[in-house]
Amino acid sequence: MATVALVGTQWGDEGKGKVIDILAAGADMVVRAQGGNNAGHTVVSGGETYKLRLVPSGILYPNCDCIIAGGVVIDPKALLAELADVTKKGVKIDRLHIDERAHVILPYHLMLDALSEKARGGKDIGTTGRGIGPCYTDRAERSGIRMYDFIHPDIFKAKLFDRVAVKNKIITSVYGGEALDAQAIFDEYKAYAELLKQYVCDTSVLVYEAVKGGKSVLLEGAQGTLLDLSYGTYPYVTSSHPISGGFCIGAGIGPTAIDECIGIAKAYTTRVGKGPFPTELDDEIGETIRRVGAEFGTVTGRPRRCGWLDCVILRYAVRVNGLTSIALNKLDTLSGLKELKVCVAYKTSKKLTEHFPADIDELADCKPVYETLAGFDKDISGIKKYEDLPENAKKYIEYIEKQIGCRISMIGVGPDRNQCIYR
Ligand code: GDP
Ligand code: IMO
Ligand code: MG
Repeated sequence: MATVALVGTQWGDEGKGKVIDILAAGADMVVRAQGGNNAGHTVVSGGETYKLRLVPSGILYPNCDCIIAGGVVIDPKALLAELADVTKKGVKIDRLHIDERAHVILPYHLMLDALSEKARGGKDIGTTGRGIGPCYTDRAERSGIRMYDFIHPDIFKAKLFDRVAVKNKIITSVYGGEALDAQAIFDEYKAYAELLKQYVCDTSVLVYEAVKGGKSVLLEGAQGTLLDLSYGTYPYVTSSHPISGGFCIGAGIGPTAIDECIGIAKAYTTRVGKGPFPTELDDEIGETIRRVGAEFGTVTGRPRRCGWLDCVILRYAVRVNGLTSIALNKLDTLSGLKELKVCVAYKTSKKLTEHFPADIDELADCKPVYETLAGFDKDISGIKKYEDLPENAKKYIEYIEKQIGCRISMIGVGPDRNQCIYR
């Protein structure tokens, strides 16, 4: 069996959770390698909806090992709440493993996320407020607290008191916020550490052995290509590496371990948070897509900004992730629209380009160049075979493939596990 990576190709929320859950039926292991509980992955199965944030979307299968690898940032309180939630729904969590290297999100990260956003004024990023950026900042600055430290009370206490003293200076002097009480944090969080300790180990060994042993391993991306710290729409990005290269660092595997890379895309484009969005629709069509597609954030409930499909973005995602195929979700949402526009290039004040720009001001200057295709009207949510799709839906799919130079191998026609067409 193979090691397959799944990555978001747009600004997140492409339906990664659903596709991982579908593929996890035949997998031995699912690995989350970056991000934290800023992610919200929805899995719908047997009439039950699961909103997973940190727990890998393979958790619904009792024989699947679920790994939260070293590149993830973990809010222990949020993770325990999520574990309690899935357990309540009858899901077994005994095959969960958490890496010793994963960094811990602590109350000062949450506070600094809120304070720094406020201080940015109108130039805020629109973060999820989960402390993700400040925690990765500490990791890069080499002052983070890792799971290994966290589950050893003496180490945790010493590091925590040390960090809180420094953070309090920043919180009070730079931002005018309220100082935190290190002892109170320690008393609360040492109880969380005690509960999580049983899952903590060196998961890079488990992943290596699974790959080497020919097991089927799925690497579950969070966020999306355009939220990547280096390749996304900087500074309107997250603080980790959602692109496929991020799996190597996040899970502790070499690039040769990855056999396939599937990009997850929506049949249109959405984004939550701020930043330029060339194909955004500020009109009735955008409103219709939001309503029909229920485009509201899984984590924060914010309305997602909606727009036409952007092939400049997908072409870029094919390139920077080395995609071998694409799963295109939510085709059903477009049913009923008279025309379907597809962005094939950008026009700036200086040039016409098919490549996604690196600079945010250049992106803000980009006007989409559209190709207009005829829409389809039929309810496609029950269709199982590609041949049975309306002609115009097939033309849409095949047009996109030609534009981006990548095969679309799965088509989502509804949120449930079985609402998927394989090609
Ligand atoms: P993720 O973060 O990439 O896992 O995506 P989210 O779960 O945040 O958002 C995707 C939303 O679309 C969820 O509510 C899914 O249940 C839903 N969804 C996924 N695939 C499809 C599809 O093909 N059709 C429809 N209508 N909904 C889908
Ligand atoms: P999934 O895995 C969509 C966005 C936030 C904000 C930016 C930075 O469900 O696709 P952060 O809290 O990470 O510092 O916020 O990134 N963002 C997401 N948008 N889906 C996600 O995850 C996201 N995770 C972060 O809205 O614009
Ligand atoms: Mg999501």
